[in-house]
Amino acid sequence: MLTVRLPKIGSIAAWRSEARRLAAEGVPAEHVRWTQDDAQDLFASTDAPRAAPVEIRLSKQALFDIESSLYHRDPQRFARAYALVLRLGRGEIRWGDRADDTLRKLLHQRKEVGRDIHKMHAFVRFNEVTPKGANRRAFAAWFEPDNPITEAAAPFFAKRFGDMDWVIATPTLTARFIAGALSFEETAEHTRPPEDASHDLWRTYYANIFNPARLMPEAMRSEMPKKYWKNLPEARLIPELIRTAPARAAEMQAKMPSIPPAFAAKAVATRAPMPEGITPDTIKQHLDACTRCPIGCRATQGVPGEGPLTARLMVVGEQPGDAEDLSGKPFTGPAGQLFDSCAAKAGLDRRQTYVTNAVKHFKFTPRGKRRLHQRPDADEIEHCKWWLDLERDWVKPRLILAMGATPALALTGSSRNITRRRGTIEHTPEGTPVLLTSHPSYLLRLPEAQARQEAEARFTADLARAVQICA
Ligand code: URA
Repeated sequence: MLTVRLPKIGSIAAWRSEARRLAAEGVPAEHVRWTQDDAQDLFASTDAPRAAPVEIRLSKQALFDIESSLYHRDPQRFARAYALVLRLGRGEIRWGDRADDTLRKLLHQRKEVGRDIHKMHAFVRFNEVTPKGANRRAFAAWFEPDNPITEAAAPFFAKRFGDMDWVIATPTLTARFIAGALSFEETAEHTRPPEDASHDLWRTYYANIFNPARLMPEAMRSEMPKKYWKNLPEARLIPELIRTAPARAAEMQAKMPSIPPAFAAKAVATRAPMPEGITPDTIKQHLDACTRCPIGCRATQGVPGEGPLTARLMVVGEQPGDAEDLSGKPFTGPAGQLFDSCAAKAGLDRRQTYVTNAVKHFKFTPRGKRRLHQRPDADEIEHCKWWLDLERDWVKPRLILAMGATPALALTGSSRNITRRRGTIEHTPEGTPVLLTSHPSYLLRLPEAQARQEAEARFTADLARAVQICA
């Protein structure tokens, strides 16, 4: 019997190369013992009888299914997969032959692995652990999957949280994403981190992706098995979420989309009464919990305005973009960079300006791994106006600069063509002057350099005019 000892990290690639080597040497499946045990093994041997060599040639799908099944916890998985590839190589079975017990079992386990990965993507909860003064935010999470899937599940988090450092520990492996590099190590400590770690971000995140369907006992049982609950400190939020979400829950139970399409999302919008006593210090936490419209249910977090409450100038954009949704601050992405550079040319000091958005959450549509910006509709703008009005009341600006059609509608109530209104001053219903200009994202989208330069010059001139009015 030949013993093949696979590493705990990178075991799939190691299995692949060992399987090819052994098949080429004609080592029969029943003479190979596959193990990941470190312990010295008295019966380990490097010898086995030989049969005819087998060339392994698999379709992409077959290779994917076989390798995915190797993330299963079944100790027999490596042996089963090797036996199967030999039979496939010898032409004894065809891929997809469901009558074959071994193949059926492998495909079943591959499915279980897929489900487990999906659950890990959905239920990992990060705790913020950013050290003081660090320039990248850092997060940590503990998760207990059914199968050793950490290596298969981690790349998703690397894409989704690529601008942060994070660690996800599982009982077997720990995935580490530091400064953009993903690595794995064996988990040293086999218990979850202490309860008293900071869970603020964890809770915030949960409140924002909260899906009331999870309140349904049936849905909870199938979607969030009880054993995951102990790793969800946001379970404490559930009573409050239940209180604020019954209407959505009832309707979503019927529809059950985890990310509702636009029409369904509209149907589940709540008209929850606004909380009282919100202050500039607490607006963020209230925004994070806001479910007045469907956008808030899907974004990572709410993005309030930023700047001194004594500012004479208030700048209002449309809504946070992908970068702002992750950073929690307005105008930090590409549109923010263009705004900053034009502001510098116009003599506009952003530190003296209150910068905010008409809509406080990122509205997007998922496209593969990307989140594509979607314009908020009139209903959503109307719902979010409550927050903008609150900020306006705190700041009482001398002038508001509305960048684009969305803030123009929120502030003046008019949806007339913004290109024609650019550069003009209109008023809020209370009489605050509103200078209308283009949105920096619009400038970024202009395909022609000449047109973009001209539009940028007009935008900069509008900023300079705003500075002058507020001087
Ligand atoms: N676009 C906006 O309108 N606001 C932001 O904060 C970022 C991009």
